[in-house]
Amino acid sequence: MIKYNFDDIADRKGSNCVKYDMLGEFFGADDILPMWVADMDFRTPDFILDAIRRRCDHEVLGYTFSPESYKMAVLNWFQKHYGVSAKWKTMHFIPGIVQGIAFAMQAFTVPGDKVLITTPVYPPFLNVPHRTGRIFVSSPLKTVDGRFCIDFEDLEKKAAGCKMMILCNPHNPGGTVWSGDELRNVADICKRNNVLVISDEIHADLTFPEYRHTTFSSVSETAAGNSITFFAPSKTFNMAGLASSVCYVPDIEVRKKFFAYLDGNELSLGNIFGYYAAEAAFSKGEEWLRQLLEYLTGNIAAAESYVSAEMPELKIMRPQASFLLWIDFRAWNIPHKDLVHKLVHEAKIGLNSGLDYGPEGEGFMRMNIGTNRATVLEGLRRIATVRPSAT
Ligand SMILES: Cc1ncc(COP(=O)(O)O)c(C=O)c1O
Repeated sequence: MIKYNFDDIADRKGSNCVKYDMLGEFFGADDILPMWVADMDFRTPDFILDAIRRRCDHEVLGYTFSPESYKMAVLNWFQKHYGVSAKWKTMHFIPGIVQGIAFAMQAFTVPGDKVLITTPVYPPFLNVPHRTGRIFVSSPLKTVDGRFCIDFEDLEKKAAGCKMMILCNPHNPGGTVWSGDELRNVADICKRNNVLVISDEIHADLTFPEYRHTTFSSVSETAAGNSITFFAPSKTFNMAGLASSVCYVPDIEVRKKFFAYLDGNELSLGNIFGYYAAEAAFSKGEEWLRQLLEYLTGNIAAAESYVSAEMPELKIMRPQASFLLWIDFRAWNIPHKDLVHKLVHEAKIGLNSGLDYGPEGEGFMRMNIGTNRATVLEGLRRIATVRPSAT
């Protein structure tokens, strides 16, 4: 069996990658350690790169439809990892998940409609409704025993009058893996209020082995009849630069409407490399993913032990999935703007500002630990250099 070496990361600088090559634009500083945008520094696995190389060897890259072997690989993965045995007719290629959410919003809502989200949340959940003239309605998450929980009473109140809910499953930030009961409650509340659920499951495959991802549509007939689920190999296998996401729509009426929108807008033909890369990921990726999750578990443990020794007043929400740490800096008592400035210009580290995730993110930062352990520890060492001495 191959032992992958996640300590050995690629030098990504100069590859036009957002994470390293857009620092100046995003942070106003180039000389900082980038631990922000959510892709990883690990090499995309060899079996995916080989699949792309093999397709290149054919030497003609013309119009291409999705291969049967690709569809089978997607369906098998969905069955094995999500527990749902689906037919391809219930699925559709989607270039990217944020695009998919925007398409669903255009297909099922009109400007002025209300869209329900739980905050803090991945910023496009706020921006996409806003930019397309919809109004987002936010139900703040509660933190209970170091994990996000949905405030169902609040969600029920806020759902009234909304047309759509965008659910982050697992949740970003925080890496919360929602339970079947929590998802059933969401499904019931949304059904009662005529709110269509969009379940973004991009982080699902990165659920750590001690937890279990539950795909939204599987929790009840109500959920299956009133939802669109998006999933992708992009986060899991570090191939976000390839258009290769998928949506799953089990309900025939929802599906007819959504697929008519997608096909009507000529969104059916995917990317030639996306197909071959996704097929390789979903058919050959199990062992790489197992080792990746093991390595990320080690990164989380290393970060927790560094923080508890050097900055015990900071609180890390331990992720149940994925490679993003949601860190509570409020004990430092520094106004959020000053905290961001200090981290960028004094500590020389680029983290995501919690306020981009909604007002509940004030005093929080998100740190990407999808990199080697030495970089994780270097990032934390830099953060510690701006620790207020009084704390
Ligand atoms: C919850 C969530 N959805 C979607 C995306 C991006 O998906 P895509 O690149 O397919 O648009 C991200 C990336 O960080 C994410 O965290």
